[in-house]
Amino acid sequence: MIQKVAVIGAGTMGNGIAHVFAQHHFSVVLVDLSKGLLDQALSTISKNLDRMVAKDRISAQQKVDTLLNVTTSTNLQSAVADSDLVIEAVSEKESIKKDLFGKLSVFCPSNAILASNTSSISITRLASYVDHPERVIGMHFMNPVPVMKLIEVIRGHRTSDEVAENIMELGVQLGKEPVVVNDYPGFISNRILMPMINEAIYALHEGVGTKESIDAIMRLGMAHPMGPIELADFVGLDVCLSILKVLYEGFGNPRYAPCPLLVNMVNAGLLGRKSGKGFYQY
Ligand code: CAA
Repeated sequence: MIQKVAVIGAGTMGNGIAHVFAQHHFSVVLVDLSKGLLDQALSTISKNLDRMVAKDRISAQQKVDTLLNVTTSTNLQSAVADSDLVIEAVSEKESIKKDLFGKLSVFCPSNAILASNTSSISITRLASYVDHPERVIGMHFMNPVPVMKLIEVIRGHRTSDEVAENIMELGVQLGKEPVVVNDYPGFISNRILMPMINEAIYALHEGVGTKESIDAIMRLGMAHPMGPIELADFVGLDVCLSILKVLYEGFGNPRYAPCPLLVNMVNAGLLGRKSGKGFYQY
């Protein structure tokens, strides 16, 4: 049974994942390199809980109880020593994840489930960096984590049935709707989302429409909550580019080639919401 959960990485995805576990009565320890990053994450969780209280989704008491379920640590080894489940949400760089999984393999109990929130790195490859690769699985949460219903559960080539079933049950306990897929480039979510975003950027690049018209067409015509250009800014243009590269290299198919405008935007440091400017100004 999963009771003690550690989330590694306190950025947008990590603090959202910790928030959801804590709100659903799990004791969760959030781990990052500095106290400053952890304090910032706690204040984001508190702000997002306030938003939910204001919208009558949770009570003020639930906010207090949720925050009591979160502790923080800068010491990876002690934080994960008695964990049943560790979810990594560190930067989307394979070298960093490889190093982390190697440490988790040593620091965690041998039956702890090791999950990754990666949006595109192969779960099968991450599993190859640990002892007992059958306990490694993808738990891909969507941004903003407290709001979006999906957890894309990715089975690596060696993930056991038992681990997959545990994680599917856990997803339901978290109030989410877990959906299982196999481990191929971009899984399902980004294999479909990123080519759509890339095509929207191509349409902008070729002058077929303005960013506003492209977004309005997809919002009003297809009932998407955000248009694809706005969504690209929301996800982060660097993240979109890196996922497209994974698709392009993984399938060896030119249809996934990132639009040169996207490449230029990233090279110019225009990364979307997080940098204050992407296709739109924030
Ligand atoms: N916790 C955290 N953030 C929240 C939140 C909550 N409880 N509720 C809303 N948000 C965020 C938004 O980012 C935005 O931020 P700021 O206010 O700080 O600027 C803000 O809240 C907008 O809030 P609103 O209340 O005005 O908006 P809303 O409630 O009407 O809807 C939305 C906001 C849920 C983001 C909606 O626009 C939406 O569903 N957009 C599409 C999101 C989407 O597609 N996500 C998946 C991205 S792909 C991904 O995550 C995977 C990957 O691998 C790339």
